[in-house]
Amino acid sequence: MADLDDLREGADFSKEPVRNQTFHIKGSDNLDWGMKDRLSRIFRPSTGKTVMLAFDHGFIMGPTSGLERIDLSITPLIKYADCLMGARGMIRSSIPADSNKAICLRSDAGTSILTELNYNVLIDIQDAIRLNASAIAIMASVGDAATEAITMANICRAVDAGQKAGIPVMGVTAVGKDMARDARYFSLASRMCAENGANIVKTYYCDGFEKVTSSCPVPIVIAGGKKLPELDALELCYKAINDGASGVDMGRNVFQSEAPAAMIQAVSAVVHENLTSSVAFEMFNDLKAK
Ligand code: 5RP
Repeated sequence: MADLDDLREGADFSKEPVRNQTFHIKGSDNLDWGMKDRLSRIFRPSTGKTVMLAFDHGFIMGPTSGLERIDLSITPLIKYADCLMGARGMIRSSIPADSNKAICLRSDAGTSILTELNYNVLIDIQDAIRLNASAIAIMASVGDAATEAITMANICRAVDAGQKAGIPVMGVTAVGKDMARDARYFSLASRMCAENGANIVKTYYCDGFEKVTSSCPVPIVIAGGKKLPELDALELCYKAINDGASGVDMGRNVFQSEAPAAMIQAVSAVVHENLTSSVAFEMFNDLKAK
């Protein structure tokens, strides 16, 4: 048990690359072949990065703007994404099975935005296997007294099941209403996911983000959060990648954009080609005009 009166905040994270690393995905050298194969479908071997397109929002908020008809709004974007993140009902009903893209399957479910979030249960790993998922995504609500233990237990059970099936787990850090969205909080939440076996962590960008990425031994992808003007969203991606993120798992800033196909291509250019936000914004405008 830690001495709670002597919690010393870490400060020495170093800019040195991770040691003993030959595989293109951080922290994955010692994984089994099947895990590496699935992670390589998500993170491009040529860049080590990923553009995941998130459209799982309806599992807690119903048909939000941009996701009224996933068959119409998301299907045209599939070819620009490296990985599709959605809930099983929408994957089965609305995503063509011949898309041949990595699937990150939302694999916990529970309460809606109308009640208290995060009292989630796990979906059977067998369904992830049936859907040929390349990863499963599980929420962790660190710092929320009511649901922290339930959601961390979900991460642990998902990792146990994922290890047996060779399916990586992505820990998704949910931010409680009272939590400060700062590097200290996101480092704690991300590190807890990784320490408990998550192979990828999805979190939010914040000031001092380098601390979050450097103290997490596995790849971090950022959520986009609420819809921003396109230039701001591209700047968010640029800063996150340059502060050590391995990609994005972005939803609203793509599918709620005035030109979603142009936006996801511009995001991909930032992630994979390290375009600056201003150059990527020009690209967005050129593609939008076509
Ligand atoms: C919600 C999620 C969403 O997929 C995530 O927030 C990404 O979407 P956005 O970029 O719209 O924030 O995991 O739990």
